Amino acid sequence: MATTWTRRHIISLADFVSSEYDTVLQTAASFGEVLSRRMKKVPTLQGQVVANLFFEPSTRTRSSFELAAKRLSADTLNFAPGSSSLTKGETILDTAKTYLAMGTDLMVIRHREAGVPQAIATEMDRLGSRVGVLNAGDGQHEHPSQGLLDLFTICSLLDRDRPRLELLQGKKIAIVGDILHSRVARSNIWSLTAATGAELHLAGPPTLLPQLFADMGVGRAGQLSLHWTVEEALENADFVMTLRLQKERMSQHLLPSLREYHQHYGITRDRLKLCNPNVKLLHPGPVNRGVEISSDLMDDPQFSLISQQVTSGVAVRMALLYLMGGGKVQ
Ligand code: NCD
Repeated sequence: MATTWTRRHIISLADFVSSEYDTVLQTAASFGEVLSRRMKKVPTLQGQVVANLFFEPSTRTRSSFELAAKRLSADTLNFAPGSSSLTKGETILDTAKTYLAMGTDLMVIRHREAGVPQAIATEMDRLGSRVGVLNAGDGQHEHPSQGLLDLFTICSLLDRDRPRLELLQGKKIAIVGDILHSRVARSNIWSLTAATGAELHLAGPPTLLPQLFADMGVGRAGQLSLHWTVEEALENADFVMTLRLQKERMSQHLLPSLREYHQHYGITRDRLKLCNPNVKLLHPGPVNRGVEISSDLMDDPQFSLISQQVTSGVAVRMALLYLMGGGKVQ
């Protein structure tokens, strides 16, 4: 497969261009095909070391990156902050340098503070290393691999063999919930407004969807709108993404109660009637069942793409590691 990939680090989707999205989507489709074979492993990254540096808890992202690296035949290093030298006062940069000294080629980094993956990438460049840094979620900033796997899930549903950005043209997509605290929403705002003719609608209570999010739509190919009532955002929507209410990040009382939130913004069967009859639902997980989405709906295969998102995650992360590691799809 011919690719021209020049990005050493993937920290944010803010400056991703259409051709990069399409390269990721096509490469992920090829790896999706690899993952459907009986032998799901390719020698692409044989001899390379992928270190998963997760300074914050994670289930699906960490496991998904680990599996992706293993399917590409890379050697993987996993790091758990609780049992590491961080507890002895080692700094994060020194931890990263330790992994560099072991011959790490790619670092996948999650941290509760925004900016840590960028800081490590800058340090790796300053040291003259060729290590690639992939942001697996930093504070409230971004979660690019999630944004890309959501895009892949949507575009593959529209054309399984040739997922590409232009398929979003004329599609209405809604993101509902705690936008303010969500790095997933920020990455998705960039990816889902990258296509000409795409319509992205954000909905949530004003305390969780401040007006300043409208600025992210300036100069984008697609259109971005904000709504403080969910009904407007859902009208004729083709895809609806709900987000977890991030209770751990809410320092002030931004909501009256979870019950009231569900009443006003929860995705329910009744509210789905406002959408396109073929509407599909996405959620990056983890889900607060019965809060942002009614429990039975998230398990309903007619509407829910939640398990496809998790499956897509492995193929998309294989694509990202492959592109950054400069290997070949076999
Ligand atoms: C999200 C995260 O950690 O950013 N989950 C994920 O990676 N799939 C969303 C969340 O925490 O709610």
